[in-house]
Amino acid sequence: MGLHFRNPPPPSARSRPTYLFPFVVSLSIFSLAALLLYKVDDVILRTKTLAGHNLDPTPWHVFPPKVFDEEARRSIAYKAFQCSYLTCPSTFSSAEQRQQRAFLQSPNHVQQCPEFFRWIHHDLEPWTKTRITTTHIAEAKNLAAFRVVIVGGRLFVDLYYDCVQSRAMFTIWGLLQLLRKYPGMVPDVDMMFDCMDRPTLNRTEYGSLPFPLFRYCTTRDHFDIPFPDWSFWGWPETNLRPWSEEFRDIKQGSRAQSWLKKWPRAYWKGNPDVVSPIRQELLKCNHSRLWGAQIMRQNWIEEAKSGYEQSKLSNQCNHRYKIYAEGYAWSVSLKYILSCGSVTLIISPKYEDFFSRGLIPKKNYWPISSTDLCPSIKSAVDWGNANLLEAKAIGERGQDFMESLSMDRIYDYMFHLITEYSKLLDFKPSPPSTALEVCSDSLLCLADPIAKQFLERSTTIPSPTPPCKLQPADGNLIRNWMQQKKNVINDVETMKSQNRPAG
Ligand SMILES: *[C@@H]1O[C@H](CO)[C@@H](O)[C@H](O)[C@H]1NC(C)=O
Ligand SMILES: *[C@@H]1O[C@H](CO)[C@@H](O)[C@H](O)[C@H]1NC(C)=O
Repeated sequence: MGLHFRNPPPPSARSRPTYLFPFVVSLSIFSLAALLLYKVDDVILRTKTLAGHNLDPTPWHVFPPKVFDEEARRSIAYKAFQCSYLTCPSTFSSAEQRQQRAFLQSPNHVQQCPEFFRWIHHDLEPWTKTRITTTHIAEAKNLAAFRVVIVGGRLFVDLYYDCVQSRAMFTIWGLLQLLRKYPGMVPDVDMMFDCMDRPTLNRTEYGSLPFPLFRYCTTRDHFDIPFPDWSFWGWPETNLRPWSEEFRDIKQGSRAQSWLKKWPRAYWKGNPDVVSPIRQELLKCNHSRLWGAQIMRQNWIEEAKSGYEQSKLSNQCNHRYKIYAEGYAWSVSLKYILSCGSVTLIISPKYEDFFSRGLIPKKNYWPISSTDLCPSIKSAVDWGNANLLEAKAIGERGQDFMESLSMDRIYDYMFHLITEYSKLLDFKPSPPSTALEVCSDSLLCLADPIAKQFLERSTTIPSPTPPCKLQPADGNLIRNWMQQKKNVINDVETMKSQNRPAG
């Protein structure tokens, strides 16, 4: 545009007074610039981000919208704009990609994936015949908070709604780390995510046109596809660090007290005020002698003020039994509870996350009935205190199960789930025009200083080994597992009623 100043006026203008011409040109340039600035400003102030800028909470699960400091709104908006548009380099070196592809051609020494990975086939079974079409994706969009499109190892996000706290950011971070761990190996894919708690695709209601929606949990009666939740990469709002660090410290903490010296009681600490009838019921079992249980209230606001000293998970492994109670839906606490090496008393859960389906009653946890809650807890505690070695072994196997669920395995689960899902797509994924590319740098640029610390600690590097090998689909096997699980739980119920004092 600067050229206009230096060029002589065109011949037709020569007849007009010469001083007017530069004035008109400057004026129009000025207005154009002002208009452009206004437009840019407008775009910037409306940029949606993974931190929640310019997004409403999900209408199906409302929560207080995030408040961004009004005074600093403009500078935040410019930062958000800068983070969103300006920081993604091209991704991986081709040498890295070649190295990774070589994995796929060397099937030697490849570990089998854990058995529960077979649920991946079960979760995707509704689309094996119909495959996944753009219609499925368009339908799923109505219940999604964001869409993730991966093309050529680059990740694009289309944001529809905000997610509570930092869930969206940590979930996308996990995906970015997966791309980094297995460069050149993650296939192109188009996935719809909801980040709120409860599954929505009821198998009865959506039976005629099931559509694929990823979230953190599901139930037997839902089509929702479970995906590892954000807390494996950290949950800054509750001071939970990345899973590898938390597990290591909890396991260490669990050794502070030998099994026999642990309190012969069942312990629960959490937030009962999350619209969870079972947690309300649990409060009634708070009697050490009568029910063998100690139920403690977690106050996150107080905890945050006192530096989370009281909520340290590694200090909460001093009881022989630990209770798991679902919250509003599944709870991320399950993995920490199992890590203690105490006998985990799981109150008959409605929800399943991606790994909890690998748990086996009486092998690595003890099932508790929700209908007869306090007596069920008491019965489990009495059984364990009378069968110390068996109880100890159940606790250890629970801890071993969580130890085997290392971050490497979690990335493998994501890898296989995404790979199997991508095989079902009957179209070539491409990012919608409204989507923005996200990379580690652009995401870190958006994170507040505390979130950033958590994220940086869960950064991955390219893996020296290939992902574990996924077993083929076997629907009968999964049906057998479900039946066996039911049988064992019934046995425990029967045992409980037989041991009840007569009269
Ligand atoms: C699914 O929908 C049916 C019919 O509306 C209802 O009876 C059933 O309780 C729902 N199931 C779940 C798990 O919400
Ligand atoms: C449960 O009982 C203990 C000891 O009596 C008490 O300190 C604790 O506050 C009680 N828990 C709740 C949730 O009321």
